[in-house]
Amino acid sequence: MTHPLHLDTRAIPTTLLAETQGLLTAVKTAHEQLKINAKESVPFHGWLHWPSVMVDSMDMRRIMATAKRLTRDVDVILIIGIGGSYLGAKALIEALRTPYTQTKPEVLFIGHHMSGRDMEGLKTYLQDKSFAINVISKSGTTTEPAVAFRVFKSLLEAQVGKEIAAQRIVATTDAKRGALLELAKKEGYETYVIPDDIGGRYSVFTAVGLLPVACAGIEIAQLMAGAHAAENALNMPVDSQFYLYPALRNGLYAAGKKIELFVHYEPALQYVAEWWKQLFGESEGKEGKGLFPASVGFTTDLHSLGQYVQEGERHLFETVLAIEETGSTLQIETDAHDADGLNYLAGQQIDTVNARAMQATILAHADGGVPSLLMRLKRLDAYHLGWLLYYLMWSCALSGTVLGVNPFDQPGVEAYKNNMFALLEKPGYEAATKTLKKRLEGLLE
Ligand code: PA5
Repeated sequence: MTHPLHLDTRAIPTTLLAETQGLLTAVKTAHEQLKINAKESVPFHGWLHWPSVMVDSMDMRRIMATAKRLTRDVDVILIIGIGGSYLGAKALIEALRTPYTQTKPEVLFIGHHMSGRDMEGLKTYLQDKSFAINVISKSGTTTEPAVAFRVFKSLLEAQVGKEIAAQRIVATTDAKRGALLELAKKEGYETYVIPDDIGGRYSVFTAVGLLPVACAGIEIAQLMAGAHAAENALNMPVDSQFYLYPALRNGLYAAGKKIELFVHYEPALQYVAEWWKQLFGESEGKEGKGLFPASVGFTTDLHSLGQYVQEGERHLFETVLAIEETGSTLQIETDAHDADGLNYLAGQQIDTVNARAMQATILAHADGGVPSLLMRLKRLDAYHLGWLLYYLMWSCALSGTVLGVNPFDQPGVEAYKNNMFALLEKPGYEAATKTLKKRLEGLLE
C-alpha cells in the first residue's frame, strides 16, 4: 500500500542502521503496549484513537459553526494559549495558508509569552479593529494566557460592551475544573472541552487545534481525514517502515548523537518544527535523558548554522521533512545579459533547485558525519499534515517508551513556575519567596 509519508534511510550509514535493527522489536513491543493502554483507558492515551472519535462527528460540525459565527464581521481572531494550547494551531495555519495574503479575519496569537512590550503593541494594533477571542488552556490556570486574556478581554469589553464581548469569546478548557472554566460559566462564554485523557502537546486534533484552524478558513474535515487515515494505517496493522523513526532516534542517541535537527526547506514549516520541538522535548527530556530537539530551515540556516552542522561537534543527526509536490511551478527566466550567471538555470523551477539544494546538503552532511533520515510527505495540504502530525505524535509516544521515560508527563515545567510565583510573592509561596530572594542577592539584580 502506498502511504502519503515515506521514510528514506539511504543517508544513514549501514553500520548505524544495523544497530537500529535490534530496536525495532522494542518499538513494536511499545506499540502493542500503547494499544492496550488506549483500550484500557490508561490516562493520557485518548489521542491514539481520537481521530476516529472526531472525524465526521457532531463536534466537528459545532466547531465549524462556531468558527463561522466567531469570524463573521470581525477583523481579527485572537488565539490565546501557550505550549500545546497554541503550537499545533499555529503550525497548521502557518503551513497551510497562502504566503503573503491578507486573510480576513486575520488570525493572531498571544498568551504564549510574558512580554508587556509585545502585548502593548497588539493592544494598539487592535484599538480600531473589531476582534473575537478563543482562549485556550487545559489547566485553566497557566499564567501567560491568563494574563493575556485579562488584558484583551478588558479591551474587548471596553470596545463593544460586556454582553457582545461575551458572545465574541470562546473558551477551550477542561470539562470540570480550572479558573477559566469558572469564568466562562460566570460570563456565559461558549466553551469547548479538552478531553481529560489527552495532554496538551497531543491535543492538536481536539478543539484546541481545530477551532483556530477553522477560524483561519482551513478545511478541518480534510485535516481530520488525514489524521484518521494515519490512525488506521499505523495501528491496524502497521507498515513496519514506520517503526524506523522511533527506533532510529533511540539508536542514534545511543550511538552518541545527542541532538536531533528537524530540517525543512519550506518557510511555511517553521511552526511545524516548533510544534515538533515541544512534542519531543517535553515528552522525552527527563530523568537526565533525551535527544535535544532543535530545528533549522534550510537553505536559510545553511548560511548561519551550516558551518556548525558541517564541521562542528559530531553529536547531530537530521530528520529532514521533504515535500514532494509543492504545487509551485515558478521558473527561473532567461536573461539576455546573464550578468548574474544564472542562465544555466533558466527554465528550471525554483522548487527543483530547492530539491537539488536538499540533496546536495544531505550528501555534504553525510560526508561530514551527520546522518539524515528523510521523511517524504507527498503534499503540503490539510490532509497530508493531518497524517504527518498524527505520525509524529505516534512516533513520539513509542520513542519515549523505548527510551524508558513517560512520554505523557512534563514534571520539569513546574520548576520555573514555582520560582516565578515565589518571586512574584503569590500567596502561599512565602517560604520560597524568602529563600529565592536570598539566592538572588547580588546575582541578578
Ligand atoms: O504539553 C503540555 O501539557 C504543556 O505544554 C501545556 O500545553 C502548556 O503548558 C499549556 O498548558 P495549559 O493548556 O494548561 O494552559
